Amino acid sequence: MILLPAADAAFLLPEELTMLMGVGVEIVPELPRRGPSTLALTRYPDGLWGLHDPSVKRGAVLKPDFMDGTMERRVRMTWHMHEPLRNALGATKSQHWTVLDATCGLGTDAWMMAAWGHQVRAYERHPLLAWLLQGAWQAAGAPASVDLRAGDAQACTDRFQVVYLDPMYPESKKSALPSGELQLLRRLLEGDEPPDNLLDWALGCATMKVVVKRPKRAETLPYSRGPSFVVEEQSTRYDVYVP
Ligand SMILES: C[S@@+](CC[C@H](N)C(=O)[O-])C[C@H]1O[C@@H](n2cnc3c(N)ncnc32)[C@H](O)[C@@H]1O
Repeated sequence: MILLPAADAAFLLPEELTMLMGVGVEIVPELPRRGPSTLALTRYPDGLWGLHDPSVKRGAVLKPDFMDGTMERRVRMTWHMHEPLRNALGATKSQHWTVLDATCGLGTDAWMMAAWGHQVRAYERHPLLAWLLQGAWQAAGAPASVDLRAGDAQACTDRFQVVYLDPMYPESKKSALPSGELQLLRRLLEGDEPPDNLLDWALGCATMKVVVKRPKRAETLPYSRGPSFVVEEQSTRYDVYVP
């Protein structure tokens, strides 16, 4: 269950409320100040929406935001330093691919790929996350080079030069607790596991390559062969498959 304060619900259209009820959102007069851990959806003064756990004081917020300057700084930095995703895509400054981001999540990677000049179609299948993302995207003046869609990418039959996959990481017992934001994402997407045929499907959609983001020591996604090559950084690995 995800709590939504009535005062914030008043900002929503009936169809938005219907979608939110469908994913377990419940309107409450006010958020509880203490009590068991739960998720809450609230509207922030900048007009964007986010998820947090009201039982945690000054806890993390899961709030896609493309206006606070963070993405702009990240994109600027990637032109001057080793950027493994850009290397995995393998395009020079003047080469631009059509990219299907099949696991859009908080949209950070889709935004970066668009900023590097690629034409990106991005799918997010969790309706609440897709809605948060679309709100943040529009508020930031949605770049025309990204076609953001709510729904399951695996229903898409179009072909793209590159298919990008970043499925939820397997939970590691050894690693430190993930960041607060990632913990909230895990709670929202509980049980979200990539299906065994994900890579097989992606290779059928890609004319040039499939790029899969994985934690450095995680297994490759199930497929009959290993990646054609791998680009690594400190904690992340990009497995590149050429069809
Ligand atoms: C780890 S997150 C991706 C993070 C993302 N790369 C970013 O930059 O924020 C994985 C996301 O993929 C979504 N997802 C997984 N399978 C999907 C599918 N078949 N179609 C659309 N979205 C999918 C999940 O709902 C989840 O939000």
